[in-house]
Amino acid sequence: MVEALREELADLTASVRAFLEWHAATGADGLPGHPSALHEALGASSAEGAPAPRRADRGFPGLDAPSPPASRGGSAAAPHPEQRSPAAPPPEQRIAEAPAARPPVQAPRGPEPSPRLAVSAATAPRADTAARASAAQPDTPEERVTRLALLAEEVRTCQKCPLHEGRTHTVFSRGNPLSEVVFVGEGPGAEEDLQGEPFVGPAGQLLDKMIAAMGYHRDDVYICNIVKCRPPKNRKPEPAEMAACSPYLTSQLALIKPKVIVALGATAVQGLIGTNEGITKLRGTWKLYKGSIPIMPTFHPAYLLRQPGAKREVWSDLKEVMRHLGKSAPDRG
Ligand code: URA
Repeated sequence: MVEALREELADLTASVRAFLEWHAATGADGLPGHPSALHEALGASSAEGAPAPRRADRGFPGLDAPSPPASRGGSAAAPHPEQRSPAAPPPEQRIAEAPAARPPVQAPRGPEPSPRLAVSAATAPRADTAARASAAQPDTPEERVTRLALLAEEVRTCQKCPLHEGRTHTVFSRGNPLSEVVFVGEGPGAEEDLQGEPFVGPAGQLLDKMIAAMGYHRDDVYICNIVKCRPPKNRKPEPAEMAACSPYLTSQLALIKPKVIVALGATAVQGLIGTNEGITKLRGTWKLYKGSIPIMPTFHPAYLLRQPGAKREVWSDLKEVMRHLGKSAPDRG
């Protein structure tokens, strides 16, 4: 009897210690649940002593341990069709369930969080414990990342407009979902449709150079489009297509909460704030997204490929963005 009690006490102590260590490692807040649940969460480990990977860890950039190469196809945000699960619950339900599936990730350090939010396997609790922590802290970076992953999943099966009929992949985003700056383009082109990632074709290569000139790596910033499926023959998306897709961008921006949005071309500005004004007039002048996030309109990189002389204006617009973010231009030799 005494021996049994002593063992139980030892178990309890180990559980509480492990929980506190996880708390310290993740920065999670909230009260621990029943100690036996904690013990189960922390003690149910693989043979190596680390918990088995959880479902929510898969399929989103930054949550999977090694980051994919920069321009490889089939981003986790827009996974390959083979990964589709016909039995998945409806998107609304999945979004509502997000806190319960919230995977613990390493808290970003410093003012510019790392895009690669690696799961800490040694300290990862199971979903039931994570749910308690997220209930107390519903707006953590890791929850925002999880919700973006769920949104990408919803987009992957979207049929809200006819553009879905011609797509190979949806194109949700690439880059750092916790970035202070978001670049918004028009819609996927042929290469993007094939690879499932935005701006991977020739315009994307120029965009990467623009981003590098600002002192970022392409994976430091978040890049997405007004529409998530390729319009046929790369035509401009129709207003109805933009309207059908716009709730996705609204949700993306609400979750990312960037300090600045760079709108690439007239369609991007139109999709963000509804103006029909030409980009030549709009560029270089701050606008506001939903009354709160500054937008810097500039020329689309595809236009720059045709009109390289306009790079000077774009660089001036990007320097304005850097000024706003308190960033100085890197030394360009
Ligand atoms: N042009 C865009 O607007 N978006 C892309 O993703 C690629 C090209």
